[in-house]
Amino acid sequence: MKPIILLFLSLAIFSCEDKTSDSGDPDAGLPISEKVNKLLAQMTLEEKIGQMTQVNKSNLLKESDIRDYYLGSILSGGGVAPPNRRASGWADMVDRFQGYALQTRLKIPILYGIDAVHGNNNVLDAVIFPHNIGLGATRDAALVEKVAKVTAEEVAGAGIHWTFAPCIAVPQDERWGRTYEGFAEMPDLVNELGAASVRGLQGSDLTAKTSVLACAKHYVADGGTQNGKDQGNVILDEATLRSIHLSPYDGAIGAGVQTVMASYSSINGQKMHGSAYWLTSVLKNEKQFDGLLVSDWAAIRQLPGSNDDQITNSINAGLDIIMLPDNYKEFISALKNLVETNKVPLTRIDDAVRRILTVKYRLGLWEKTKTERSLTGAVGSDSHRLVAREAVRKSLVVLKNEGNLLPLSKSISTILVTGSHGDNIGFQCGGWTMEWQGGSGPITKGTTVYRAIQNAVGEGSVFFMENGLDETLFPLAIVVIGEEPYAEGAGDRNDLSLKSSDVAMIKSFKSNGIPVVLILMSGRPMIISNIIDDCDAIVAAWLPGTEGDGIADILFGDYKPTGKLPHTWPATMGQIPVNGLSTGLPVQFPYGYGLTW
Ligand code: BGC
Ligand code: BGC
Repeated sequence: MKPIILLFLSLAIFSCEDKTSDSGDPDAGLPISEKVNKLLAQMTLEEKIGQMTQVNKSNLLKESDIRDYYLGSILSGGGVAPPNRRASGWADMVDRFQGYALQTRLKIPILYGIDAVHGNNNVLDAVIFPHNIGLGATRDAALVEKVAKVTAEEVAGAGIHWTFAPCIAVPQDERWGRTYEGFAEMPDLVNELGAASVRGLQGSDLTAKTSVLACAKHYVADGGTQNGKDQGNVILDEATLRSIHLSPYDGAIGAGVQTVMASYSSINGQKMHGSAYWLTSVLKNEKQFDGLLVSDWAAIRQLPGSNDDQITNSINAGLDIIMLPDNYKEFISALKNLVETNKVPLTRIDDAVRRILTVKYRLGLWEKTKTERSLTGAVGSDSHRLVAREAVRKSLVVLKNEGNLLPLSKSISTILVTGSHGDNIGFQCGGWTMEWQGGSGPITKGTTVYRAIQNAVGEGSVFFMENGLDETLFPLAIVVIGEEPYAEGAGDRNDLSLKSSDVAMIKSFKSNGIPVVLILMSGRPMIISNIIDDCDAIVAAWLPGTEGDGIADILFGDYKPTGKLPHTWPATMGQIPVNGLSTGLPVQFPYGYGLTW
């Protein structure tokens, strides 16, 4: 090779590696480990503890505390938002907060974190994707990666650097209120889709403006608690626990996930947040996870003992960042005292801060101290909505199609759309949408099933009545019902049967000879054995999000259904927990079931 070409090539390589060269960072050219060591060597104990402290936005007493307490990260819990809830309002707020961090002596930027668990779901008019259970039904890793990529763009467009997603729970008991946050009951599928989600969120280049930090949660076995109790206890031998619940962490770590969140739950009576075995020996040492480990919301408060015991045990067990929706000043002074009295070794603090700074450098955070406003304008864009529409149509699982009623003809004379979920964006999105527990009605921009059907066949022939109508007037009823929104433990249920008023409505259509297409919107399988014979067609739509057009795409035959059940569908409550391929029980539908035409 000619010397001149060699010189050109090496310059090109140098400039690729040196992505930070045009920044104000004098150490831009150094490898990350050296930058981290240099920075760490200059830090006081207060500055280090600040990095480990994550404050919920609504608990921040003064914005200038970000500077004065050297805070390393801020989060918004579900529904915690700036007054202007559009992406521009978020970007303004995060940029203002960042301004305080940059006023500190060492100018270490903060990370802002949020639960963008089905799109950037706290942001008004962002696109809302199906919850993970629906993505599990698509069985389509490339699609999940695309969904996560759009989510990352909508997170970055709101100025945010980090999403507490994907949830890679392997829910084993549908009574659990967080069932919908996991992709499926089978670990291999969760492993594959969790990895795809991490790739989409973090991108092929983490320093790109469109890349954000992912967070695999909740480590580990959150989906394995007894009786599906949220934050409960898992009773399993270690080999079984590893094969069902730990295995999806291989996919996420292999895909380079930079953060992991610990689970509220316990294993054989021991709280995860205090378990050095699971947090340090297994995750950090054996699995070689080299990113940062964050606590769950106030989870250290569930550990036994005093405030000091809780802080000591959780940090010594391996937590690097403590998520605090409470008194951060007290936490900071308590931790400082614990280090000074050697209850928490300084080596542990240094390890935590080294991990935090490493992740910040890998993200290129020093080059991301202002929101990329071109992304802000694209939040909720039509092109993003098309990706969600594709996800919706691929997530639908057709459970029944008597006499090939589906697909429907677009030239049908009149259609009745009815049911609580037929024209309700909040219900269609479920929990973790605008508010922690979700909401009802037009809480954000989107297309309901009713509007989507109008879009497909023309307004004139489609009618909506929430509670049915004179049944005999219509040749067909599309009944859209399901669960009302909930999040976390508020969704734990011992009874997953349909509302009696919904059952009565379906039966009255049937007795009047009106064919029924049931669209069920729920965060998990429900018990439908009492209406299955009364419906001509049944579609499980999960919690589809804002793009109802994806449902019309299937109903009217523009696309063929391809979704497959991500959970075994129980016939009775008594069968739960029922999981896996051959259960031996007469279930309603087996794992993987799904019709097409
Ligand atoms: C949930 C987490 C979530 C965190 C922050 C907790 O209650 O368990 O999944 O990331 O709150 O909102
Ligand atoms: C949730 C937060 C939510 C808060 C409301 C927590 O458990 O994780 O996201 O904002 O409760 O109190």
